[in-house]
Amino acid sequence: MPAVVEMLGITKRFNGFTANDNINLVVEKGEIHALLGENGAGKSTLMNTLFGLYQPEEGEIRIRGERVKITDPNMANRLGIGMVHQHFMLVEPFTVTENIILGMEPRKGAKIDIEKAERHVQELSDRYGLRVDPRAKIEDISVGMQQRVEILKTLYRGAEILIFDEPTAVLTPQEIGELMEIMKNLVSEGKTIIFITHKLKEIMAVCDRCTIIRKGKYIDAVSISKTNVDELASKMVGRHVTFEVDKTPAHPKEPVLQIKDLVVEGNRGASALRGLNLEVKAGEILGIAGIEGNGQTELIEAITGLRKVKSGSVLLNGKPLENRKPREIVESGVGHIPEDRHKHGLVLDYSIGENMVLQTYYKSPFAKRGVLRYNAIYEYARKLIQQFDVRTPSEFTPARALSGGNQQKGIIAREVDRNPDLLIAAQPTRGLDVGAIEFIHKKLIEQRDAGKAVLLLSLELDEVLNVSDRIAVIYEGEIVGIVDPAETDHDQLGLMMAGGGKGGK
Ligand SMILES: Nc1ncnc2c1ncn2[C@@H]1O[C@H](COP(=O)(O)OP(=O)(O)O)[C@@H](O)[C@H]1O
Ligand SMILES: [Mg+2]
Repeated sequence: MPAVVEMLGITKRFNGFTANDNINLVVEKGEIHALLGENGAGKSTLMNTLFGLYQPEEGEIRIRGERVKITDPNMANRLGIGMVHQHFMLVEPFTVTENIILGMEPRKGAKIDIEKAERHVQELSDRYGLRVDPRAKIEDISVGMQQRVEILKTLYRGAEILIFDEPTAVLTPQEIGELMEIMKNLVSEGKTIIFITHKLKEIMAVCDRCTIIRKGKYIDAVSISKTNVDELASKMVGRHVTFEVDKTPAHPKEPVLQIKDLVVEGNRGASALRGLNLEVKAGEILGIAGIEGNGQTELIEAITGLRKVKSGSVLLNGKPLENRKPREIVESGVGHIPEDRHKHGLVLDYSIGENMVLQTYYKSPFAKRGVLRYNAIYEYARKLIQQFDVRTPSEFTPARALSGGNQQKGIIAREVDRNPDLLIAAQPTRGLDVGAIEFIHKKLIEQRDAGKAVLLLSLELDEVLNVSDRIAVIYEGEIVGIVDPAETDHDQLGLMMAGGGKGGK
């Protein structure tokens, strides 16, 4: 039997830039096939080509052995190809069912037969273990459920070949576990999955084979049973990568950040932080572990001046910070690598060079008597780009055009180079590949070793365990325990994060 998908010698260029350079991808029916590559390697481009969003300049595509030209997503659908994109494409005020049937509504006369649609959605949901509430509005459901809606949408359209573009990047560890089960259910029902990720553990856990691409080029295709994490990582990055975070014991000194009885309201009015206490010392990395939605975001917002403090105090080097303006807080010595780098970290339409001076552009040497001095700005940007290995065609390139990992390196360069006493790193490696993760961890440890206080917030337990010197567990807006990473493990932390178990010292 021919392979269900054959992409042979695919080349795709964007204005002279070759995003896919003669790539092969062969996927057998019924397998979970990983497409592995660093950020910017060309994975989404290749899959958008398979889904009919792009036309390749060269190469051919065969589906079930038959040569096809996939002119648009409707044609992809007709060929049984469905895609769940990195950024969901749902209509927020619509219900789950309305989104799933959009454009293919069952009718009773002139009216949409919503009951029939709901029954169909429920059937699909039961069959594949995709738990959703058919009547809930998209804006009211979790990211995990939104993703299940996207998957159901492809199944409703009869997809046999499902493309998941980095589906786990937006999920909590629990939701990732659920998605893995869903993927296994789908293939046991005869579906074929192309799974884009750069998380090697996920590939080892569920995939049958893996195609690796690097910088737009095909590197290899391997069987998962015949490979290991180290081999995959070095094929992806093109050099040996270390997974252990290399660090010496911390030498913590005086407290830099002191938070006492902090109370902050959440978006819906209820208290998001309910008397939170926390201290971060100079020369240590304090990691916060917790399940998403337990007050982490509100804590960072309160410290950085983006959210009102209702009561309690936030002291930086003994001076109160609460309810001060974000700019004053920045100037008093707080660096912030934000959780949402697109919303708060970068101005995507500005050049990467301009982004390097977002908080300092009005000061010497970047401005003189209110006039920006672009030579000075770009000279400074060039220095940071080089020091922090930000891969960009030039300092003039819009931030939007950089890959996620390089955008993040840019933010880190800017925040670290301002030399803050407290560096807040919120999900600093979310969605990044191993090479960039290794680099970012090194930078956080360098800051610590330079005597700075580092507050790390991450939903990745491995990251919290490997990088932190102390771990504070947050649960329902309070710190419920402080533990020593050397004396704890996933299970104990997981229990505390769920509100059970006892804290250490
Ligand atoms: N529409 C586009 N126009 C110009 N360049 C693009 C476009 N889409 C992707 N690229 C570039 O192609 C390269 C590969 O991108 P992409 O396929 O999104 O990578 P990945 O999904 O592996 O992270 C990147 O350098 C990206 O900037
Ligand atoms: Mg991508």
